[in-house]
Amino acid sequence: MQILKEENKDKVVFKTDPSIIAPAAKNESNHFRNRMTAENVNVHYGDTHAIKDVSLTIRENEVLAIIGPSGCGKSTFLRCLNRINDIIWGCRVTGTIKLDNQDIYSDKLDVVELRARVGMVFQKPNPFPKSIYDNIAYGPRLHHLVNNRAETDEIVYSCLEKVGLLSEVEDRVHRSGTELSGGQQQRLCIARAIAVKPQVILMDEPCSALDPIATARIEDLIDDLRTQFSIVIVTHSMQQAARVSQRTVYLNLGKLIEMGDTVQIFTNPQHELTEDYITGRFG
Ligand SMILES: Nc1ncnc2c1ncn2[C@@H]1O[C@H](COP(=O)(O)OP(=O)(O)O)[C@@H](O)[C@H]1O
Ligand SMILES: [Mg+2]
Repeated sequence: MQILKEENKDKVVFKTDPSIIAPAAKNESNHFRNRMTAENVNVHYGDTHAIKDVSLTIRENEVLAIIGPSGCGKSTFLRCLNRINDIIWGCRVTGTIKLDNQDIYSDKLDVVELRARVGMVFQKPNPFPKSIYDNIAYGPRLHHLVNNRAETDEIVYSCLEKVGLLSEVEDRVHRSGTELSGGQQQRLCIARAIAVKPQVILMDEPCSALDPIATARIEDLIDDLRTQFSIVIVTHSMQQAARVSQRTVYLNLGKLIEMGDTVQIFTNPQHELTEDYITGRFG
């Protein structure tokens, strides 16, 4: 990323080349609704205090980027949002996380349903060893969103279309998903996530195993998808955070150091640690 540095009288101001910042980020309206809220979230793995008192909001129809050095807790925090941490032995989560004002850690909540409402896409594409068709149909069948073949077809083909895969795989939807290229597999995993009509999609470094062309396609897709979903993306690429997100969170050693509009974080960070990280002095 090109960082422009301007000497001010008493302060050094770092500026990201504004042309690479998500165009949508520049024209955000002030009207928004929170989809999820996290309050005073702490996560321990045994004696390791991985997340320290993190509070933040996730808005409707936004891409929220989580950045920070390796090991700062990005994946851990993301996994709190759909309770995937529940299945990690020794992991303890405290604090309050709400989805549409409903406490997702409440005993009354069905975790399987939660994970459909808050879907996840991982770093390494992980299609099921099933056909392309069945990868996408799996969730809707599990959650009884479809009653017959025609309805299943409708969901499968519309999801393939949304992720830009339909024209590429139309003639082989009954072949295995694992035969696709890495970028296609990742788009298949996104299609699988959106097939159950989630409200939020969590993405943990979704492009780090992909080449630049496949990465660009996923980034375009993320921008399209935010018209329907909220997206939280963990990325180690600051260029990617600047390109795809409207707001950015900077974590360091498990603490939320700064959260703000992506433009502000990358052009006018308020915290010295954020500035050090985005200018490459740290991390
Ligand atoms: N399953 C686990 N068991 C024990 N410690 C873990 C586990 N996962 C992560 N940690 C620790 O929690 C901290 C945050 O890790 P992580 O969330 O993976 O960071 P990031 O995604 O930012 O690289 C690190 O100190 C890491 O070693
Ligand atoms: Mg991680």
